[in-house]
Amino acid sequence: MASRRSARVLLSGLASVRSIAAQQVRISASFKSPNSRCFSLAAAARQQEAVKEALATPARNSIVQAEVGKDGISLKFEDLSSTQMPFVWLRDNCRCPDCYSPQALGRKFLLTDLELDVNATKMESNAEMIRVEWNDGHVSEYPSDWLHSRAFTPTARAKRRNTYAYKREPWGADHKLREFDYESMKKDDRVLLDWLLTMETQGSAMLKNVPDKETAGPEMIEHIAFVKQSHYGPRSPVINRPNTNNVAFTNAKLGMHNDLPQYEHMPGIIFIQCVEQHEGTGGESVIADGLFGAEYLRRNHPQAFEILTTTDSYFWDKGHANYSWEMDEFYKIARFPIITVDSQKEVVRVAVNNAIRDSYIDLPADRVKSFYSAMKLFNDILYDNSVVFKMDSGDMMTLDNVRCLHGREGYEAYSQRHIESSYLDWDEARCRRRRIQEKLGQLQTI
Ligand code: OGA
Ligand code: ZN
Ligand code: ZN
Repeated sequence: MASRRSARVLLSGLASVRSIAAQQVRISASFKSPNSRCFSLAAAARQQEAVKEALATPARNSIVQAEVGKDGISLKFEDLSSTQMPFVWLRDNCRCPDCYSPQALGRKFLLTDLELDVNATKMESNAEMIRVEWNDGHVSEYPSDWLHSRAFTPTARAKRRNTYAYKREPWGADHKLREFDYESMKKDDRVLLDWLLTMETQGSAMLKNVPDKETAGPEMIEHIAFVKQSHYGPRSPVINRPNTNNVAFTNAKLGMHNDLPQYEHMPGIIFIQCVEQHEGTGGESVIADGLFGAEYLRRNHPQAFEILTTTDSYFWDKGHANYSWEMDEFYKIARFPIITVDSQKEVVRVAVNNAIRDSYIDLPADRVKSFYSAMKLFNDILYDNSVVFKMDSGDMMTLDNVRCLHGREGYEAYSQRHIESSYLDWDEARCRRRRIQEKLGQLQTI
């Protein structure tokens, strides 16, 4: 027989967290819904604010009520939030040393040994914890703050989503890149955190006063985590190379693109360092937010959006080394849609690259023209909402490479123009962001 004992602890007036939570849920639902027509920059910004506020609110995690139900334990916390904690989830997440390694922070308990219909035979609770005896005799204890942060409520779930990745804020032609001083970013973790959050939300920033050396990109990336290499090595001199192995390494105009879609795992963040800019006309940069463009396409041209999210493209790259650090011979083929959406229909990757897009198309001939029509439409939308500027020598543009696109104007063949590009993956960038937030006391991991 399950005990129906419940614990009641002090309650205090606590409306604010709940109203933030409720607001967040409404915003989140409208922003995230597939084919949403409610998508707007303002909604995205409001949601980000709601999450920030919820994160900044001191958690009132004490348990004020705990009751055993049919399928789980219902809990109410001091902040008035309440949640069901299913038995199967509680048993799976037992914190005892037999089931869980506190050093490795990993589960030892095997799924094979988990009873789907596991049941609590006894439960005791106080403000700080609950203790459960299971029908197989096992005993588990769970601290209140641990339970509170894992509640199955929209607020708790949104907080975890935010720890995973910050909500992206789409931008259009009026976008101004935020600027960061290169050395300050290296010296001060708060500046680095600001850049990391800017990259997560805006997908773009400009580093200023970059040292005049070719390795400044990889050195910054090594300070953050480690370089994402490709067959072009840890960095690429983007100059007009004789006998080039990539159209980017010529003086030609480059349409807006994402780098390296010939890789199944495209690099997450690109660092484009302007070592020396072209004097006179030419070499200007153009950038656009692929997320903004894709959402615009989804709302206004749903058929084209459908084509670009469901048609796989081949991206390919074949060649040989120009430099000793490049791979001698390479022959890559990757395959995915130009716009990739996740299980929630959110845009998670944009892969546009006219030079690398393969001439092989895995479509019946009668679907080819509509595919081109969708690609051109997307391209037009991106250019209509793009930002044009010219980098100075000593600037380094950083872009979310699976979201934002970049291109450049052509320039004279004799030019001394010299760009260096290098990459950092998103896993490492977010990892560094969480570590700094923890260090600064902005993220409590329990
Ligand atoms: C590239 C590239 C930008 C530039 O090398 O992929 O986009 O400004 N270069 O040369
Ligand atoms: Zn256990
Ligand atoms: Zn590029």
